[in-house]
Amino acid sequence: MTLDAHSADLAYQSGFGNEFSTEALPGALPVGQNSPQKAPYGLYAELFSGTAFTMVRSEARRTWMYRIQPSARHPAFVKLARQLAGGGLGAVTPNRLRWNPLAMPVEPTDFIDGMVAMAANSAASKPAGISIYHYAANRSMERVFFNADGELLLVPEQGRLRIATELGVLELEPLEIAVLPRGLKFRVELLDAQARGYIAENHGAPLRLPDLGPIGSNGLANPRDFLAPVAHYEDLRQSTTLVQKFLGELWGCELDHSPLNVVAWHGNNVPYKYDLRRFNTLGTVSFDHPDPSIFTVLTSPTSVHGLANLDFVIFPPRWMVAENTFRPPWFHRNLMNEYMGLIQGAYDAKAEGFLPGGASLHSCMSAHGPDGETCTKAIEVELAPHKIDNTMAFMFETSQALRPSEFALQCPQLQGQYDACWASLPVTFNPNRR
Ligand SMILES: [Fe+2]
Repeated sequence: MTLDAHSADLAYQSGFGNEFSTEALPGALPVGQNSPQKAPYGLYAELFSGTAFTMVRSEARRTWMYRIQPSARHPAFVKLARQLAGGGLGAVTPNRLRWNPLAMPVEPTDFIDGMVAMAANSAASKPAGISIYHYAANRSMERVFFNADGELLLVPEQGRLRIATELGVLELEPLEIAVLPRGLKFRVELLDAQARGYIAENHGAPLRLPDLGPIGSNGLANPRDFLAPVAHYEDLRQSTTLVQKFLGELWGCELDHSPLNVVAWHGNNVPYKYDLRRFNTLGTVSFDHPDPSIFTVLTSPTSVHGLANLDFVIFPPRWMVAENTFRPPWFHRNLMNEYMGLIQGAYDAKAEGFLPGGASLHSCMSAHGPDGETCTKAIEVELAPHKIDNTMAFMFETSQALRPSEFALQCPQLQGQYDACWASLPVTFNPNRR
């Protein structure tokens, strides 16, 4: 698609939660007030709220847009014949589940058609919970999409993306993530022949950086490494399909213009990206290892202090130096529900079966940990400092139990013998030898 796009070259603004200001035409941003009688260049002012008006200031998200046409200028939405893949929620199961990667599509498939629902723990109408999707696409969107049901966290596993949003352009590659606020209009274009990855849809409080407590004022994901776009607009007077997801359903309408027509904006309700390779990974320098919360990149809190609606946690390359320590992730049963994916390489708790693009689900109180092979090796190995390299696994960790989708329970990617990976754990107990 050839676009009549106006802005500086692709550029970013650095920081997290900032009150950013940006304009694609000089003087397009009103000074000193949000909604002047006549905005510069004949633009319309429009408020884009990500939190309730009365939210405490430290958590409030909103952006003022100055656009060629206000978003209100659209005809009625009509429910689309083709809805999101994956079906509704499947049967309840407490079992440990693992999936192979989704096949790449053969038919032309854009990002929306390539989304497949995998699991959810809340209806989209609720102000908490998450839904999880995988995506696999082989062509750029020509339509524009927004999600009324929640904020989207994109985790690419294959293929670079160009995400043209109302507030500017983000380019994304595997090992980077993007977060798109609830309701933000965007178009996902493919920069490679195909693309695949994971999506967490956050129905709860917007993602933010976790508190650092005794870690101090630096470490983990640092604010300056989060990048928001600069203003970039399309002055296109041509038919454009606008699709929204509302309470889980896709609805569309035809506009006579591109809705990515914001010439200037200021605010903190913004899309952003982050390079996971910049994560400042912390760990033990003596023995044992900290809980995996030490790897939290972003968190969506609940009203219960310390209980996350969604934690986005990564397992990046890192040095293992702990003395006299069982070094893989220990065996555990948790309150929290863990949906894991792999972006590249291998995960240190599993010898095989957990592939890039694949996923696993360990629900509340489900027992898991390293597989038999990994465990035996970890007990026998001579301990020396070594680096776990060329790896990037991640976890969507959530406080409410996830229900897999109908697709997730029926698809050929579901592994039938996942439990068997722990069957080879030997009995090493000997009451006569301490
Ligand atoms: Fe776990």
